[in-house]
Amino acid sequence: MSPPTHHLGYGLGLRSVHYPHILQHTPDVDWFEIISENYMDSRGRPRYVLDQIAERYPIVMHGVSMSIGSSDPLDLDYLRKLKALADGVKARWVSDHVCWTGIAGLNTHDLLPMPYHEASLRHVVERVRTVQDILERPLVLENPSSYVGFTGSTMPEWEFLTRLCDSAGCELLLDVNNVYVSSVNHDFDPEEFLRSIPCDRVRQFHLAGHLDCGTHIIDTHDDHVVDRVWSLYRLAHELTGGAATLLEWDAKIPAFPVVHAEVLKAKDVIAHRLALHETLAPLETHATRPGESASLPHPATRIAVEVE
Ligand SMILES: [Fe+2]
Repeated sequence: MSPPTHHLGYGLGLRSVHYPHILQHTPDVDWFEIISENYMDSRGRPRYVLDQIAERYPIVMHGVSMSIGSSDPLDLDYLRKLKALADGVKARWVSDHVCWTGIAGLNTHDLLPMPYHEASLRHVVERVRTVQDILERPLVLENPSSYVGFTGSTMPEWEFLTRLCDSAGCELLLDVNNVYVSSVNHDFDPEEFLRSIPCDRVRQFHLAGHLDCGTHIIDTHDDHVVDRVWSLYRLAHELTGGAATLLEWDAKIPAFPVVHAEVLKAKDVIAHRLALHETLAPLETHATRPGESASLPHPATRIAVEVE
């Protein structure tokens, strides 16, 4: 297959309720992300529709049951099917989560957090290498949202991710909403998270909505992206230099134009960020002359390039 393109642009999660709209209107979306498990065992309508969409759009695969962190053996049959699907739809890359989904053959269908310590790191590094050998491509792994942690963890999540990428040669799917959700639930600084991960390993961003319960946040993917996540996304884009961006909307799924508008907002956010950068750059250069102090542009200028 052709080598993956690093920055595909702005994509949407492919959901069956939107099949008719997509097939009829061929909307101006840069790419679609599929949930791998929805198509791996199907030669029926879902796969028939996917093959049509894959002829028109780049496809990225996103899985939810690799269970890379489990102590169960890797499911080799699952991995072989995953590779066959990736080859079949010419997937630009294949992703899953840094989590475990079950034990002793049971699948909880939840993305459960891992303990972050030396032994778990060695365990996952070895399994990621095996998966990459089978898939014959780098694995892209997502930071999960979480609600509980392990008292046995000896390092923060961002250190675990960094060392995982370095040792296994995998890449990151940076879910900015997950960073925010976990930062509230575990009381850490989300900006420190973003500044501490290996930015050159970020292949893709996820954006999504959540439910703020006051004392904690639940990662529901059923609403618009909140302002704080947009601001973290701007920072993530600045730190990484940009990566393919995907808007997830998995429950209470609205009509296609609503979801489409949300990912177009991501495009606007970045356009405004880059416009701000261009506005500030000459002023910063000017302010570095001897005898002058650095200053931000007039507030009116700054407001003009802020995102609503
Ligand atoms: Fe995600």
